[in-house]
Amino acid sequence: MIVIDGKKASDEILSEIKIQIEHLSASGKRIPRLVAILVGDNPASKAYVGAKMKACEKTGMLSDVIQLPASISEQDLKQHIQQLNEDETTDGFIVQLPLPAQINENEVIKLIHPSKDVDGFHPENLGKMLLGQDCFIPATPYGITKLIEHYQVPTQGKHVVVVGRSNIVGTPMSVLMSRNQTFANATVTLCHSKTDDISKYTLQADIIIVAIGKAHYLKANMVKPGAVVIDVGINRITNVDGTSKLTGDADYEALKNVCSMMTPVPGGVGPMTIAGLLLNTLKAYHAEK
Ligand code: GUN
Repeated sequence: MIVIDGKKASDEILSEIKIQIEHLSASGKRIPRLVAILVGDNPASKAYVGAKMKACEKTGMLSDVIQLPASISEQDLKQHIQQLNEDETTDGFIVQLPLPAQINENEVIKLIHPSKDVDGFHPENLGKMLLGQDCFIPATPYGITKLIEHYQVPTQGKHVVVVGRSNIVGTPMSVLMSRNQTFANATVTLCHSKTDDISKYTLQADIIIVAIGKAHYLKANMVKPGAVVIDVGINRITNVDGTSKLTGDADYEALKNVCSMMTPVPGGVGPMTIAGLLLNTLKAYHAEK
């Protein structure tokens, strides 16, 4: 089995971004800047934002975190977003999700200016993606398409089964894989929590993209021999000795003997999400303002 090394593919993209930023710097141009709004102290969100900022540092991209208390009102959060919309030195920004219960995520995302929405979550960007128009593609699906391209996984005419229908991953992924303007041209089945007998579909899949947030959900008896598995899950599980580790939605050890290619967790899709985000920020920088 070939291990799809997202860390290596991501490092290559970050190196290319670094070179571009060095060129900008050498010619006295402004440097691109990404800002992350982090509300509260959810440990996973903190870790994700930390990894995003570290990647910016690696490439020379400017970055900042706006840390806000978990008790912040929707109105106050919206004021921060308005400020970033107007700030000419900020090319792109993200609001790390999930947000505390008192805040309506949809209302917040709607306020991010689409030209700075480098997470690609604004309805305008998602609508353009659906229509195959130029837009910011959500960072995780974008990173996955880059990874599939990088490893030259055949997609045209193939059956892709996406498991999970979240707005951030499953739904956009199903759209991207079925489009003909992108590289994919695949036939897509989107499975979710209400699908009867998910195995019936996954067993037919040439490529399975699993994003449901359940550790070791995808078992060896659910996968056709030779299939490619892209594991989007990041689940923290506790070992018998009380230590904990990150694991994906696929039973990696069992699937090693079944798949032709698979992404590990960590080191698969995660780093590619970050590469996708930085690519989007560079795109925002270069867009005509
Ligand atoms: N929470 C989980 N994944 C993401 C992501 O890609 N972007 C943001 N903003 N929040 C997330």
